[in-house]
Order: sequence, then C-alpha cells, then structure tokens
Amino acid sequence: MKYKRHLITAALPYANGGIHIGHLAGVYIPADIYARYLRGRGEEVVWVCGSDEHGVPITIKARNEGTTPQAIVDRYHELIKRSFEGLGMSMDIYSRTTSPTHAQTASGFFRTLYDKGEFLESTSQQYFDPEAGIFLADRYITGTCPKCSAPGAYGDQCEKCGSSLAATELIDPRSAVSGATPVLRDTKHWYLPLDKHEAFLREWILDGHKEWKSNVYGQCKSWLDGGLQPRAVSRDLDWGIPVPVEGAEGKVLYVWFDAPIGYISATRELLPDEWEKYWKDSETHLVHFIGKDNIVFHCIMFPAMLRAHGEYILPDNVPANEFLNLEGDKISTSRGWAVWLHEYLEEFPGKQDVLRYVLCANAPETKDNDFTWRDFQARANNELVAVLGNFVNRALVLTGKYYGGRVPAAGELTDYDRETLAELPRLRAVIESHIEAFRFRDALREAMNVARLGNKYLADCEPWKVVKTDPVRVETVMNVALQITANLAIAIESFMPFTAEKIARMLGTDNLKWDDLGRADLLPAGHIVTDAPELLFEKIEDAVIEAQIAKLEATKAARAVAAEDSAPVEPQKPAISFDEFEKMDIRIGTILEAASVPKTRKLLKFKIDTGMDVREIVSGIAEHFTPEELVGQQVTIIANLAPREIKGITSHGMILMTERADGRYSLVKPTEKVPNGKTVN
Ligand code: 2FM
Ligand code: ZN
Repeated sequence: MKYKRHLITAALPYANGGIHIGHLAGVYIPADIYARYLRGRGEEVVWVCGSDEHGVPITIKARNEGTTPQAIVDRYHELIKRSFEGLGMSMDIYSRTTSPTHAQTASGFFRTLYDKGEFLESTSQQYFDPEAGIFLADRYITGTCPKCSAPGAYGDQCEKCGSSLAATELIDPRSAVSGATPVLRDTKHWYLPLDKHEAFLREWILDGHKEWKSNVYGQCKSWLDGGLQPRAVSRDLDWGIPVPVEGAEGKVLYVWFDAPIGYISATRELLPDEWEKYWKDSETHLVHFIGKDNIVFHCIMFPAMLRAHGEYILPDNVPANEFLNLEGDKISTSRGWAVWLHEYLEEFPGKQDVLRYVLCANAPETKDNDFTWRDFQARANNELVAVLGNFVNRALVLTGKYYGGRVPAAGELTDYDRETLAELPRLRAVIESHIEAFRFRDALREAMNVARLGNKYLADCEPWKVVKTDPVRVETVMNVALQITANLAIAIESFMPFTAEKIARMLGTDNLKWDDLGRADLLPAGHIVTDAPELLFEKIEDAVIEAQIAKLEATKAARAVAAEDSAPVEPQKPAISFDEFEKMDIRIGTILEAASVPKTRKLLKFKIDTGMDVREIVSGIAEHFTPEELVGQQVTIIANLAPREIKGITSHGMILMTERADGRYSLVKPTEKVPNGKTVN
C-alpha cells in the first residue's frame, strides 16, 4: 500500500426512510468489505458515515405526518443506525448532520468560501406556495407539460414525454404540498460557480483519473462535456443549517452542500484532535462509496467545494455502483417495492451473512442488476450451504471423529498436497488485486474458491475411505484440510464476518489475520478444535421464499390502493368549445412495429397503421412497456397533433395513455377490436 492512511466514506443515507437492499448492494456492503480488508491488512483506516438529515423531502414528510422534521430524523436515524449494526457494518462512526459539530463545520466551510469570494450572489424569481408559506423545490410543483400537454408534469421534468423543464414553463402550475397555485417571488441565493472550476475538473478527472470505473468516468465526462453552470448552494427553507451571512434570514445551506461536509464533521467528531490529518494530508487515501445517482455531487460539486476552500485533499477514487432492481422492477419506497434491512434482520435472525453474500455476489458493479428471492434461495442453498458450510463441516466432523478434535500432525506431503496448499497464496494475491480495484464480486468468488479447493481436496483424498487402510496418510490429509479451513476464515472475513468469526471460534483461534492467508501452518499439531461443529448455514425452504414474495406483492397492492384513495385528482382544465373539441382527430390504430430509441431510457418509436397511413410516432413509455408486448395492440392516437421532432425522429401524433394506481401506464384502447382509422367521438 502506498498510502499512510485511508479515509473511507459511504453516502450518508437520508433519514426519512429505512435502508433497503439497493442501498446495501450499491454502497454499504462494498464499503464495509473494503474497510474490513484494509484493517485486516494492518492499514490505518477510518470509515465514516451518518444520516443525511436536511433537505425538502424530510420537511414534507413531517408536514404529511403532522410532526416536526426533527422527530422524523430522530426516528429514522435510530432505525438506520441499529440496522447497520445488525448487519455488521464496521463504520468507525455513524454520525448525523443535525449534530452541533456538523452545524459548526458546514457553517465554517461556507463562511470560508464566502470570505474568499468563491460564491456568486444572484436574485431570481422562484415559485412560492402562498398557502404553505414556502418556496417550492422544482419536484414539488406539478402542472401541464408545455411540450406534450400531459398533466402531472414536474417542475423539472415531464415523465410522459421525457422533456427537461423549468418550473416556470409548466401550464397551470400547482403546489404538490398544498395544492395552491404558486406565485413567483424574488429571492436571493448564493451560487458556486462550477464553470470556474471546469478546466481544473477536466484535467483532474479526465486526464488524472482514467483508472476510475468506466461508469463514473463516463458520467463525469458527459457532465464536463455539457459545460458546468453555477449551482445554488442555498435554499429558502426553515429546516437546515442557516446561511451564515448577514441578510440571509430564512435561508439554509442546500442539502447537497452540507451533506458531503458531513463526512468531515463525522471525522471531526470521531477524532477531535486528529481529524485534520485525514482531510488535509496528501498521504491520505480518500475513497467515496456511493450509488450512481450521487456521482455528480461527489466527483464535480464536492471536489469543487474542497478546492475552492483550499485546505482539503480530493478523493482518490469514487467507486460508484449502478442500481439494484427487485424481482425485475425498480426498487421504489413509495410503491412499497423494496426489501428493508430492518425487516430482514427480524425475519432472518442469524442470517446476516446470507444477505451480505447474495448482495455482494450479485452487486450492480458494472450494470444494473436484479435481486430475486429465488436467486437468494439458490445462492444460499447451492453456494453457502453446499460449498462453504459443507466443507467446514466435513473438515471439523472428521477431525472430531478421528482425533477427538485434536489437530493431527502432517506427515510427508504428496505433490497433490503441495499443489493444493500452493493455491492459497495464489488465491490471496488474486483476492487482493480484485478488492484493491473495487471488484468485490470477483474477490468474493475467489474467496469462495478457497472452500471449493477444500471440498475438492477432501473429495479427491477420500479420508473416510483411506482411514481404513492408511490412517497415517489421513492425518496429513486432515491437517491440510484444517489449514485450508483456517485460511478460508481469513479469506471470507471482509465479506461474511459473522461466519468467519464462527469458523475461528470452532477452530479455537482468535488471531487469524490477513497476512496469515496463504500459510499452511496456522493450526499447529495438537491444537484443539471443536469436536461438535455447528452448521454454518441452514437450507432456505421454498415456503420462506414464497412468503417473502407474497409479502412484496401484498405491500405493493396495499400501497397502490392507498395511493389511489389519497391521490388528488387533477383539477378540471378550462372549458373548451365543441368546435375546439371537434378539431381534434382522435383515431384507433394498430401498432405494427415498436423499438426503443437508442441512447434514451424512456423513448419508444412506433410504426402505426392509422387506417389512413402508416406513420411514425414517438412516445416516452419505455419504462412501462417492452416493445414486444405492444406490437399488434390497438391504440388510441391524436392523429392531427402537429408533427414534433423528438431525438431526431419526427413524431406524427400521440398515443393516449393513463396512469394506473401503481404508477405504471396503461393504454387507452377500445374494448373490442375495431377497424383501424375509426374516429373517437
Ligand atoms: O442520495 C442520498 O441518499 C444522499 N443522502 C447521499 C448524500 S451523500 C453525502 F454527500 F453526504
Ligand atoms: Zn411532456
């Protein structure tokens, strides 16, 4: 290792909900593996994390529940902290951004930048909710899309046609907080001129960090190529850290300004006298573990802040992961589509390592991945029970049976014994290189290969047969098997610490360290191991998995009904005359072809037989349908909508759709097949 010390940060989770498997696979499990591994190697490591307790969603949740933001964050901070502990997350501190240390650190940081003239001050008009008495973040303003006329578009984006919007472009805007019509008001804010740091960031990332993961590097490149703009670092809100300058009453630091400073505050809280060496000494190796939605903040905005400040080091790496889906569908808290850590820990007591294993083995390191309960069961039963548990159990049961738990002495080693043992240092080197390059799935596979090596060794040497004819040879075989077992405990510790600890306990040792991995003399002859080994893993039965799948479906259905009951119906639009209605040419057509539009996430393009012609229409519904399921379906279209260019394709009309209670779209179509070209009136 070429660094003096390592500072690891993991994204501070928002304290307005629990931790789910997506968070774990994307951020916390990789960070924990990395921290444990480095500590195991005897490196100086500090891993900081904590709750992100500011921001608009927390205030909205408090309002909806008739309580205070503080009560919300207190509740979820405790829940998150406890569930991380339950899963064996080895953070050195789990702090929170409502701590006094953080207020002081974030405030001081802002003040330094302010005093150095690093901010721009600018007054602009923003929507204000006169009923709730608050300025509205873009996401909390809805209205009719100016591009496609869809209702329910957000102040920053229309989900129907995929257009990026400014809140002021929305037709008939409404506050999602109170339903009131917002009004524009002047407001002053402070901006970090990211454009001023663009040249530096380009050089630092694009030339200096070509080794970053390609998803991270690619996202940075596209942000930089698009040109950076000044970004507001203050908000009009009564929840957050007050902007520490004159004339800033009612203004707080933008949550994405204060949250990353939370890493510094947490380090300060942990090491009041030594925190600076972690943040200000270039011999510190700083690594941020995050999900892909946080890349811009950690690679562009926070580094620009640190550099503008001038005293801080910049991250060496930002190994962001992609997203984990659940049973083929995006994880969604609001739709109830998630597996929650606190619930898992209650429902699967003692099975922390099964979740850790499955989420690492299937981590979305290079692309989005899917978690399914069937895959969870298969990996638990076919890999943990059948490979890892089976090997350790066989080695210990045979040692108990033949030697009463005393490690037998190794006699002369055969070539095969030597080759087998030589695999251990080789596997160690491979695991190290994978972990150091943030390839945790590969590293875990190689760690499991230690168990596979052991199983193969026992299966090839067949001690249970040979014991009848050559008991002296079996002493050597069992010695080798026990040395592999001890190596296995070391190799899996970062991934499955509970299991590693159990193995070490059964082996009667508590001083296995990473540097011992690869050695064939970890358990001396005569050392006593357990003669009554416990099983490391139990088979997971079908009924358990079916119950989890049923629970997911039930939560989703309950949420959908609740959402339907409580969702405000769009207000009626202003009246139109019959003549105006008559101008619309609404027709039935059939989809002949459907395909996704390259380089877009949401768009599908269609060839539609309208009875009058076959025409091309583009629609932003790729997240709701696959092209295959749409081909052959009849649809309702507005045929005479003026042609529009969308991503280089001219769309001649619009397909009508409505939104189901669960948030997915449904086609508006005749209940019986009708000839193409029939009008709707
Ligand atoms: O995306 C999130 O969940 C944010 N709360 C992450 C913050 S990371 C850091 F900057 F604090
Ligand atoms: Zn739109």
